Amino acid sequence: MTSQSLAGERDPAELDTLRTRAQELPLREKVRLLTGRSMWRLHALDELGLRPVVMSDGPVGVRGTSEVEGETSILFPSPSAIGATWDRAAAHETGQAFAREARTHGVDVVLAPQVNIQRTPVGGRHFECYSEDPYLTAQIGTAVVRGLQDQGVAACVKHYVANDSETQRTSYVSHVDPRVLREVYLAPFEDAVAAGAWSVMAAYNQVDDGVESGPMTGHRHLLTDVLKDELGFDGAVVSDWVATHTTELSANGGLDVVMPGPGGPWEDALVRAVEDGRVPEREIDDKVARILLLARRVGALDEPARPVTHDDDLRALVRRTAAAGTVVLRSDAENPVWDRPAPRSIALVGPNAVRPHVLGGGSSTVNPAHVVTPAEGLAARWPDATLTVARGGDARRFAPRLDVEGRSADGAAVAVTWLDAEGATLRKSVLPRWDGFLRDLPAEVDTVVLDVDVLLDEPGDHVLEVGTVPGHTIEIDGVVVAKDDRRSGVEVILDSSINNPAGVPATVHVDAPRRVRVSASLLVTRAQGYGNLVRAELRHRVPAPSAEQEIAEAVEAARAADLTVVVVGTNEEVESEGWDRTSLALPGRQDELVERVLDVDPDAVVVVNAGAPVLLPWLDRARTVLWVWFPGQEAGHSIADVLAGDVEAAGRLPWTLPAAEADVPVPHAVPDQGVVEYADGVHVGYRAWERSGAVPAAPFGHGLGWTTWSYDASDEPEHLPARTPDGDVILTVRVTNTGSRDGREVVQVYVEPPVAPASAPVAERDRPVRWLGGFAVVDVAAGASADVTVTVPRRQLEVWDTDSGRWHLPAGTYRLRVGRSVHDLRLDTAVRVQESTTEQE
Ligand code: BGC
Repeated sequence: MTSQSLAGERDPAELDTLRTRAQELPLREKVRLLTGRSMWRLHALDELGLRPVVMSDGPVGVRGTSEVEGETSILFPSPSAIGATWDRAAAHETGQAFAREARTHGVDVVLAPQVNIQRTPVGGRHFECYSEDPYLTAQIGTAVVRGLQDQGVAACVKHYVANDSETQRTSYVSHVDPRVLREVYLAPFEDAVAAGAWSVMAAYNQVDDGVESGPMTGHRHLLTDVLKDELGFDGAVVSDWVATHTTELSANGGLDVVMPGPGGPWEDALVRAVEDGRVPEREIDDKVARILLLARRVGALDEPARPVTHDDDLRALVRRTAAAGTVVLRSDAENPVWDRPAPRSIALVGPNAVRPHVLGGGSSTVNPAHVVTPAEGLAARWPDATLTVARGGDARRFAPRLDVEGRSADGAAVAVTWLDAEGATLRKSVLPRWDGFLRDLPAEVDTVVLDVDVLLDEPGDHVLEVGTVPGHTIEIDGVVVAKDDRRSGVEVILDSSINNPAGVPATVHVDAPRRVRVSASLLVTRAQGYGNLVRAELRHRVPAPSAEQEIAEAVEAARAADLTVVVVGTNEEVESEGWDRTSLALPGRQDELVERVLDVDPDAVVVVNAGAPVLLPWLDRARTVLWVWFPGQEAGHSIADVLAGDVEAAGRLPWTLPAAEADVPVPHAVPDQGVVEYADGVHVGYRAWERSGAVPAAPFGHGLGWTTWSYDASDEPEHLPARTPDGDVILTVRVTNTGSRDGREVVQVYVEPPVAPASAPVAERDRPVRWLGGFAVVDVAAGASADVTVTVPRRQLEVWDTDSGRWHLPAGTYRLRVGRSVHDLRLDTAVRVQESTTEQE
């Protein structure tokens, strides 16, 4: 076996050989390798020919190590958009493209994919996950793993496990029944390991699975017994960033790498624990061997990295994938937007038309070189049309970022003073630009003072604000507007409050141009592995029309135009890692904007730019509604491609769109006394809706596309459901594209279980009403038919038997319902499972 090993291939002897190699090293050397050398790097060891392994986030692109000033990366559609393609090939290609980006940025391990489950629509990282369904999550997630790793770059599959919400995320205990864990939350990790994942990230949270209760960074049952011993994972378990707080527990539990470093609970403390016999040295050897294996696989040990062979145009890939993942929630059969004459005038309105939200907040952030706005995209597609852009009201709470370069009086920019703990000046400097952060400050800097003189020349009310974290005194125009003496630490990074920090807005009235001093005295945030930093978001709102005026202007633009496109959605204040949402409503007055635009133009196309479900109270009124996700950097182009019908919008919802918050099965994610009770059991997502009978705004799997379809049961005997020798079920259906344009269909097979006798074990009685058993994507020309074969893997029929600790296939007749969503079921068939034999019905 060599470093060329591909995803899925494993050789147990390789780990043994590397363990022997590890045994020859001095203890201190070995332990040193187990904690990061820095934020994103592991240690090198020249004697072994080991160069540092470099990691980077994931999962919407590869950010890089931020060591290069102005580093930019390709911004891909967010994972929920990839999930919405239901397309394993697109996910595989995305993984390959990540690998290419990784190599461009000198990265060996991409901290992706995230295969947690969208258990609740309020979950802050919903957009980073693929689906509320474990099988769809697993299929897309494993395709990303394969794509990355067949190009020689490691996936780090995260966050293991039951890390499905953000509130109290570093401490909550997920209380999950073992069967539920196996059938829902572990399932995508199990498949990723089977696909050969080279690393897995241990989550922040704790898990109580009935066998063991404790932090995932030290959960011996789930890390060692299940992941490594039972599922055969031979890669390295990497801690989530600053997630490890124990020495022996984590070392004995099965964690292999503490990130970031230096520092943390291992290093010298772990050397002592081994010397005292609290941690067996063979555990250390095993960890080192796993790191060496990871290093060998990515070309950091013995042999250099393999060249990446994926060479598609990445911008084209982003554009294509975002368009393909777009979900047509509603389409006007009489007057489809793609079939209308080229517009002579276009009204492009809505807050997200002006500032599209192309990615969610938190660690997945990448910095694209350019984002194509909707205006740029529509103008490029219809160059002869006149384009009117109107925001229609600001949906953001915070004022925009202050234009320091354009606004500072005398071109002065930001004066920066470093002070020590006694208040003595350590350094003074002037920065021409301000990006909101000063990082990597030396330990002796206690406080940083920022002064900027802002020139306000428009008459009226200006708003100035400094958004920051605890530990500050803010003065605006000579008045102290905010003061907080608490020094902040790493918690402001972990809860993401550092990303959109609140401030106290000050209104400054201007009659004649004047200068206003904004002064921020900031206690340095000591953020452990993230370093010492200060954070200040300088904000400024010029005197502006009121929301009412802006909405009225947008309505007038819509009235006058041939084509109205309203882009509404969430923004960085709403969807982010670090917190969960408290409302599913669109922020600001966007619902009102849509209603008022529809009043004057019922043919207006509404484009929803959000990663996770939002309520759309006007949905039934709008004739055309598209869900474009966080589409990535080519947003404007992919939206235009879909509107013009240049590309089939083949997306299908990978989750349920609620009509009312009251119907949502898991409506919030607030732990009860520190515990997140997974009381919904195996009835996650749409399965709970099927059980309760509540009617969503759009069901799981829904997406109309731009054409129409009919489904026919094939009468060929070989097309009837049949079981393969492995116990999978295969069936073939005929789909016909009954529309006038080529299209793509996602054929979905839902399984309904046999009725279990009252004497049957709970796992056989408490099964979902129906669940996704398999799916396939097919491209069919207008008017043509295709026979589509779908596999329902045996595992999709099985239940986890907690008593025996095994998978079990309950006998009986399984109904197979084939269709376009969990509610649009077109064909009905069945397969009989009797012990290991099967007959068709
Ligand atoms: C996130 C991880 C991420 C890591 C490094 C953590 O806060 O939970 O998903 O990979 O930071 O940025």
